Amino acid sequence: MSKKRVAVLISGRGSNLQALLDAEQDAYEIVLVISNVPSAAGLERARAAGVEAIALDHKPYGKNREAFERDLDALLVQRNVELVALAGFMRVLTPFFVNAWKGRLVNIHPSLLPKFPGVNTHARAIEAGETEHGCTVHLVVEEVDSGEILGQATMPILPGDTPETLADRVLTLEHELYPRCLAALARAL
Ligand code: GAR
Repeated sequence: MSKKRVAVLISGRGSNLQALLDAEQDAYEIVLVISNVPSAAGLERARAAGVEAIALDHKPYGKNREAFERDLDALLVQRNVELVALAGFMRVLTPFFVNAWKGRLVNIHPSLLPKFPGVNTHARAIEAGETEHGCTVHLVVEEVDSGEILGQATMPILPGDTPETLADRVLTLEHELYPRCLAALARAL
């Protein structure tokens, strides 16, 4: 079986990108990393792993999200990317991009979806009195954080937990869950 060519889209530190790089096996190969934030630390992680890393700043595009995504899409197509993994990519995507990559676009989200879509998931889980929390890998559809769930990892919320302690523990779960789900999807395609 040939490895699926994966692009990872990031906006920041890229710890999930690192986990995906470290876990690369027979199912997928990361061939390209793109950040919409030029200063994202994750770009250096990609270069250190010998992977092409591109900064595509969304700012010059202003409110024209689709123009940004058309350039993004062109970079992916030029490199024969087959599967796109969002890893802390903090831009909502328009129907153009979501539909262009339908079934081949995945995201990791720091909550047990359908609970707590959007931001500040850890604080909201504590405020809601949840006893369990975790992360979700899902296919991306037009509605934010609501596509088919490919996998979840759960853990208890403990007395004294803060948004920061939860974020740390959930991140550890993310690093195990994401490579596993990406590999499974790559094998299924
Ligand atoms: C991760 O916790 C990821 O689940 C979250 O951003 C963090 C990125 O960390 N993603 C979202 O909130 C997407 N809506 P990383 O850059 O170290 O991988």
